[in-house]
Amino acid sequence: MNMSDVDDRTKRELNREYWERFFEGGGYEKSDPDKWARIREWFLGAVRDTRTTRQPLRILDVGCGSGEDLAEFSRLGCVAVGIDASPTAVREATKNSGCDVQQGDLVDVEFGTDRFDGVFAKAVLHTIPRAEIPIVIEKIYAALLRDGVLFAAVFLGSEGEKLTKDQQVLVLMSEGDWRTSFEEAGFLPLTQKLRAAGCGRSGGGNAI
Ligand SMILES: C[S@@+](CC[C@H](N)C(=O)[O-])C[C@H]1O[C@@H](n2cnc3c(N)ncnc32)[C@H](O)[C@@H]1O
Repeated sequence: MNMSDVDDRTKRELNREYWERFFEGGGYEKSDPDKWARIREWFLGAVRDTRTTRQPLRILDVGCGSGEDLAEFSRLGCVAVGIDASPTAVREATKNSGCDVQQGDLVDVEFGTDRFDGVFAKAVLHTIPRAEIPIVIEKIYAALLRDGVLFAAVFLGSEGEKLTKDQQVLVLMSEGDWRTSFEEAGFLPLTQKLRAAGCGRSGGGNAI
């Protein structure tokens, strides 16, 4: 299949089907739980640093999968809500976390405006068609309260949009291109690590 012949809705549908098969098949063993625990801790620390007046923190997990991060955010005292395209993932996430989890596509569903202290986007933005990534990043920006924080972990690469042999559409672009996409939506960089970027919504003194 040539990617240029496939429209964006079809690409997202291919991905929804891919992830539905994946979660129906039992999902995966989570790799490196300690690393992700440290990253959640870093993220919540960054949110607390910039959004000091609000308790409990409201966190949106976009592409929440089977809800392990939601469960941890909830355990740590946050009001966490999730969105995922896969109905099976949504059922699992609801069961695993007890949080409010909405089934829907990140391009189509409403996130609301000025609602969240933090948005957690772990391993999901590179599964949005290239042309629609700015739409999702702008929605995330709008959903954040002033000084709210986005954490995004993305695959990096140089191949652009590609269809994998298991029929998943991935967008592989450079760290610089991701950074530009976040900055064009209005985000300011907080920090940057290999395959992980944290960005703060502009309007405060939170850029370092
Ligand atoms: C690699 S998994 C990551 C899941 C979770 N964030 C984690 O780290 O365990 C990607 C998730 O994004 C979801 N997803 C992919 N494209 C999506 C879209 N367009 N809208 C909503 N969810 C999407 C998939 O269903 C899947 O649960």
